[in-house]
Amino acid sequence: MSTAADFKMGEYTFPRGWFMIAEANELDDAPKAVRFFGKDFALYRGESGRVVMLDAYCSHMGTHLTASSSASIVINNEQLEGDSIRCPYHGWRYNHKGEVDDIPYFDGPCPKAGNLTSYHVVEEMGAIFMWHDEEGNEPTWDLPVLEEWKDPQWVNGAYDHLGELEMHPVEVLDNMADAFHLGPTHGAPCEYFENEYLDHVYYQRQGGFHRMYQAYLTTLTWYTGPGMLMSKQKFGDANGYEFIFNTPIDDGVIKVWHNNLAKAPTTSPGEEDIANAKMAQEGALAAFAQDFEIWRNKKPALNIMATKVEGNFKKGRIWHQQFYNPHGDADNYTSRINGKHHLTSYEKPGELAAELEAG
Ligand code: FES
Ligand SMILES: [Fe+2]
Repeated sequence: MSTAADFKMGEYTFPRGWFMIAEANELDDAPKAVRFFGKDFALYRGESGRVVMLDAYCSHMGTHLTASSSASIVINNEQLEGDSIRCPYHGWRYNHKGEVDDIPYFDGPCPKAGNLTSYHVVEEMGAIFMWHDEEGNEPTWDLPVLEEWKDPQWVNGAYDHLGELEMHPVEVLDNMADAFHLGPTHGAPCEYFENEYLDHVYYQRQGGFHRMYQAYLTTLTWYTGPGMLMSKQKFGDANGYEFIFNTPIDDGVIKVWHNNLAKAPTTSPGEEDIANAKMAQEGALAAFAQDFEIWRNKKPALNIMATKVEGNFKKGRIWHQQFYNPHGDADNYTSRINGKHHLTSYEKPGELAAELEAG
């Protein structure tokens, strides 16, 4: 396992950005204990439907607010009151802002020093996302939301949980610049390849013929911040989107989710369209699993021994460093790489790429 310091990412151990922390339906039955960014959190859906994320540990005596399944108030469904939550040990109540607002056996004022941090969370696309920022700032960009998720003509998948991976996320991001694994790993060598950096967004445009499926694959893939990949794909006649979301759990350990959307021929997809979408998702997941297996078994590439045509690896890592340093310094990184960078001799995107971009 390698850490942010091993990769010389910057001042911070964990990056700034929007990150997936749970599937929305994981909060249907009970509050959840989660761990990300080297910290434990209490995550729950209040009675109004609002999702709340607080520091996990009660200020009174350090109890995890959402890790009890046996305390009396938990089994009797008395832990939540509106959007507030009571600690399972002595019942101190925290509102959605993290303020202690009731101590059941004490009439005096609640101690302000007991307030917990409440984090910025958003529910979208069937998932819960949090804004993480070591500087504690409000989001500096909006959560990227794919409009097609709400379009009835697009069949949304369920999230595939790939579990935990002991690899620093910078090596997941290396994939964006990695033109030459597409043949050996995925059987779809690219015929053109381009990266573009635009502040907190990182694009990849590529296309090539897929050996196993005997169809031309064209993709436009982008990271909005370091945790959320979306990819628009045309595969033969099929149109789809793929999501790959990664979130640091601890330094050098990440959690990874995968999802797919497939375009149906009509706005009221039938059983066959849903089955086709499922098949497309399984195919995309199988392709991603080809990367994942390599990642699970590789040793960290602290320095990539890049040939002359692999210069984008270095640019991609510079792009990534902006999120491990103060927001005010982001320009120091992006000004060095912003713009389009073709791979020599892979620079002709062709008509399919232009079509994908336009439509
Ligand atoms: S430890 Fe939470 S109320 Fe006592
Ligand atoms: Fe890959």
